[in-house]
Amino acid sequence: MAEERIVSAKRRRDDDPQFELGLRPRSLKEFIGQGKIKEKLSIYITAALERQEALDHVLLYGPPGLGKTTLAHIIAGEMGVNIRITAGPAIERPGDLAAILTNLGRGDVLFIDEIHRLSRTVEEILYPAMEDFALDIIIGKGPGARSLRLELPPFTLIGATVRAGALTSPLRDRFGIVDRLDFYTPEELIEIITRSARILDVAVDPEGARVIAGASRGTPRVANRLLKRVRDYAQVKAGNVVTEAAAREALQMLQLDEAGLDEIDRRLLLAMIEKYEGGPVGLDTLAASISEEPETLEDVYEPYLMKLGLLKRTPRGRVVTSEAYRYLKLSTKKNPQLHLW
Ligand SMILES: Nc1ncnc2c1ncn2[C@@H]1O[C@H](COP(=O)(O)OP(=O)(O)OP(=O)(O)O)[C@@H](O)[C@H]1O
Ligand SMILES: [Mg+2]
Repeated sequence: MAEERIVSAKRRRDDDPQFELGLRPRSLKEFIGQGKIKEKLSIYITAALERQEALDHVLLYGPPGLGKTTLAHIIAGEMGVNIRITAGPAIERPGDLAAILTNLGRGDVLFIDEIHRLSRTVEEILYPAMEDFALDIIIGKGPGARSLRLELPPFTLIGATVRAGALTSPLRDRFGIVDRLDFYTPEELIEIITRSARILDVAVDPEGARVIAGASRGTPRVANRLLKRVRDYAQVKAGNVVTEAAAREALQMLQLDEAGLDEIDRRLLLAMIEKYEGGPVGLDTLAASISEEPETLEDVYEPYLMKLGLLKRTPRGRVVTSEAYRYLKLSTKKNPQLHLW
């Protein structure tokens, strides 16, 4: 269900990989926003290059669609090394990881997406690999078994995850550089939308870009996806220019309000208010009320609702804030066409 939502920060089945690829910034300079992270990375990269060493291992975490994968590619590019891409669930056995590690070149980047989903046995291979650039192999079985240490070339592991809390501490501790990506500001999103519009050759008014940015949930992936939909609308209905009016009409057609909340968000907030008196409600109950996986609710949708100050996590469950009541009232008043149920 989640991936069908136009505002899903996760990749959707109908997202065209070429489309994302074409819009992906290629260098730190081109990468908009996340200023603190860029500044730090740029120093660490320059220092590592000067010493002719591999960059320290990097852990990037934060909600989906904020640029973790993009940054991993950029780091490899700036270091001038190859990047090998894999994901936690794809590495099933220790042997799979051993094969990947022994094929790395000196200084290469190994990118492990969803690193919190590595199995325990695979993870244990990573410890000496990250710490000593070594691979411990057990030969034989039972009392005669012995361990053999293989040297690996120095490499940089870049791990990405939406939930840093799910990482074991021995793994987390082995990353020298740990950075959290935050939601983008409206100004940064405008810049991203303007840049994407230039690449896609779409005429976008500054006010049109502002409207799209407001509904992008702080997330570049959503911004680019909305731009694509608004472009279609403008082409057919508004003389091919994304004006403020065209952007607003297109969002209305998508049943989104100014803040990028859709019907499911509104239903979630309303359910909390009407069925549970504003909470606290347990995560599982809440997820079931909108037919969503608890993890998706927690990793993808809640962070933005919390960022807007509409929802809070408490030890006893989720609660809506007084802001949420105001928000729903205002949203239905301003957008009577948005049906709530
Ligand atoms: N800072 C940025 N400037 C411009 N575009 C960006 C930026 N960050 C991300 N994007 C765009 O958003 C898309 C999604 O970014 P990316 O795939 O790197 O996110 P992610 O954090 O890896 O997401 P996931 O958690 O789903 O893997 C990219 O294809 C890129 O076009
Ligand atoms: Mg990614």
